[in-house]
Amino acid sequence: MKETVKTKRRSFKHLVPPVDLTGRIERSTRMDRTIHAVAKAVRRRLGPGRLRDLLHGVPTGKPLHPPLVTVSLGCWVATAVLDLTHADPRAARAVLTTGIATALPAAAAGITDWSSLHREQQRVGFVHAVANLTAVGLYAGSLALRLAGDDRRGRLLSFAALGAAGLGGQLGGHLAYRQAAGANHAESVAHLVPLGWHDLCELKDLPDGRPVARRLGYIDLFVLRVGEGVTVLADGCSHLAGPLHQGRLVSEDGSACVVCPWHGSTFRLSDGTVAHGPATAPQPSFETRIRRDGVLQVRPAPL
Ligand code: FES
Repeated sequence: MKETVKTKRRSFKHLVPPVDLTGRIERSTRMDRTIHAVAKAVRRRLGPGRLRDLLHGVPTGKPLHPPLVTVSLGCWVATAVLDLTHADPRAARAVLTTGIATALPAAAAGITDWSSLHREQQRVGFVHAVANLTAVGLYAGSLALRLAGDDRRGRLLSFAALGAAGLGGQLGGHLAYRQAAGANHAESVAHLVPLGWHDLCELKDLPDGRPVARRLGYIDLFVLRVGEGVTVLADGCSHLAGPLHQGRLVSEDGSACVVCPWHGSTFRLSDGTVAHGPATAPQPSFETRIRRDGVLQVRPAPL
């Protein structure tokens, strides 16, 4: 007789939250009017220019918000460890203060990025910001209590703040990894276009001086013909994949550029580098040549 062996399978169901909190936030329209007003005010206040580019991270080519946030969160976790181990209260106060101080530029960079996102991303980002501002407020209260000599209540407030910061961090992770805010949306281009030359279209079929989109395999390309010269970039903007061929052509410091129609990222036509954010990653560019029979060929430019 066959013996049936019952195996106990581990279930991780209990680890999954019963409510899809982030999904609900993404879909909720309740905050939309506030979000619209705040995002517009932030964009108007900052305007285009160096400060906005700096806060996006354009000078370094990397978003500024994530590394600044890491410093604050690291300091606050260190505060909790120092509190739990009853270490010197001066050390806890020092790292707590450092965390609060670095939270301010982190918030400035974050809200600048947030002001140029899709609405679903802005909803999650808004709650993320509220959770983090709550954390900063609680930490500031904790610091005040500690400085007044009430270390016990100061420590309690810090633990409550860590909970709020944890929620903020969880939502920030969702925003970055699930909703791809801050990610390079042109990264896949290098994997979708094989090396070597590819026929794109006939030169005579391209309008002069007006960008158009042309398909190459799996991707769309931004193609601009000026006389016999042709500039080709990936068409999906590296910020959030906006269609660059619908953008404006401008000149920035003597360089011809295209401005993304969605949030205004500005890329140099010569090599796809970023002149202005919110994009921080360059736009993949292509080398071009015209065959004798008038066919335009392209190949990915070396990185
Ligand atoms: S998609 Fe946002 S600037 Fe292009």
